Amino acid sequence: MSQTTLPNTDIETALAEAKEAYVARNPRSLARYIEASAVLPGGNTRTVLHYAPFPLAMERGAGCRLWDMEGREYIDFLGEYTAGIYGHSHPVIRAAVDGALNGGINFGASNITEARFARAICERFGLERVRLANTGTEANLLAISVARIFTKRPKVMVFDGGYHGAVFGFIGGGSPINAPFDYVVAPYNDIAATQALIARHGPELAAVVLEPMLGSGGCIPALPDFLHMIRAETSRVGALMILDEVMTSRLAPGGLQSVRGVKPDLTTFGKYIGGGMSFGAFGGRADIVDLFDPTRADALPHAGTFNNNVLTMAAGLAGLTQIYTPEAALALNARGDALRDRLNAACAAAGAKLQFTGLGSMLAVHTTRRPIITPADAAMGDQKLKELFFFDMLAAGIWLARRGMMTLCLPIGDAECDRLVAAVEEFLSTRASLLAAAG
Ligand SMILES: Cc1ncc(COP(=O)(O)O)c(C=O)c1O
Repeated sequence: MSQTTLPNTDIETALAEAKEAYVARNPRSLARYIEASAVLPGGNTRTVLHYAPFPLAMERGAGCRLWDMEGREYIDFLGEYTAGIYGHSHPVIRAAVDGALNGGINFGASNITEARFARAICERFGLERVRLANTGTEANLLAISVARIFTKRPKVMVFDGGYHGAVFGFIGGGSPINAPFDYVVAPYNDIAATQALIARHGPELAAVVLEPMLGSGGCIPALPDFLHMIRAETSRVGALMILDEVMTSRLAPGGLQSVRGVKPDLTTFGKYIGGGMSFGAFGGRADIVDLFDPTRADALPHAGTFNNNVLTMAAGLAGLTQIYTPEAALALNARGDALRDRLNAACAAAGAKLQFTGLGSMLAVHTTRRPIITPADAAMGDQKLKELFFFDMLAAGIWLARRGMMTLCLPIGDAECDRLVAAVEEFLSTRASLLAAAG
């Protein structure tokens, strides 16, 4: 990246130059993209990883570092969208996975680790019962389905800007591929409007599903009063409150709900809890989750070939009990808070239309000065500038989500945080004229 300020460069020129440099630097990623496009639509099998002109492909990771196909090193500030909290090949996770592999991959039978892992999850997050699945999407699908059966009601309230999985996307309203439930889409962090919608649909409402902080939607925390209102109103109308803590359970030892003092009826989990293996879970009130008890005459079925797969059970149990202890959770999130404060101080000192939202170890960049309380505030950001931020960070050896999300993994230390702050300060300096515009 250039060290000089380019005062007269407009955003289009700056972006074109940044992309041109990116293309020139990454011939192997381009070749991979072309090869993949022959069999994977658009060379892609996970939409979030695609961006123009072509996505960077990584070849190897260790600790908090990644190497692309050219052998170029990056600090991994993406942390696999919160799932990679342990970094790459943590020795304790590695030993747990090796141990499981030595015992044979998957038995088609109950195994001794699944109950220990389930107990660790219940104790950590204050659940009476839990069911294990394979992804966060699946966890939400099952939680919503059981809520409809438990309440004998059809409707599901979700929020604009929310994301609950492959078939539960509500960023920008909704997605044509969403699971065909009868949704009521409410405005996130709008207390009065949401309260009115819950009252209006109350008798038909099975559940209100929300993230206590929008993750994919831009790391926008729910207002504590918004969460408390939803808890009170769902109880009043007899709907279940389902808190999606797939991302946010990492933000405090007992999940974000423990800090906010809100106890949902059901919580859904995923990401890092599987120790880097594929994972999902839902749990909470015994009277609801026990509907899946197969000894009951009226038991609901819950299938899943890999629900108790030995790799996830072993890696997840080791991670939650030996590595991401409550103390480790507090330390990692304190590091994230300090980092966000430093980044925002640099943006404020530069008077730039750039800011970092989030809580603890999750943060997202926004290219606007306005306070971000709702997804509509975030949408006011300059999207081209955000794209430029992404390509400039890649050039500086910082790996992050194209949409500007970053998360901390445990191996990230002071030196890596200093590197990120330095990269952002350089962006503030080299792109000063673009960041000075109104917005
Ligand atoms: C809040 C939230 N819920 C659910 C999911 C879906 O999880 P998975 O990708 O494991 O299906 C995600 C994934 O990003 C998420 O962020």
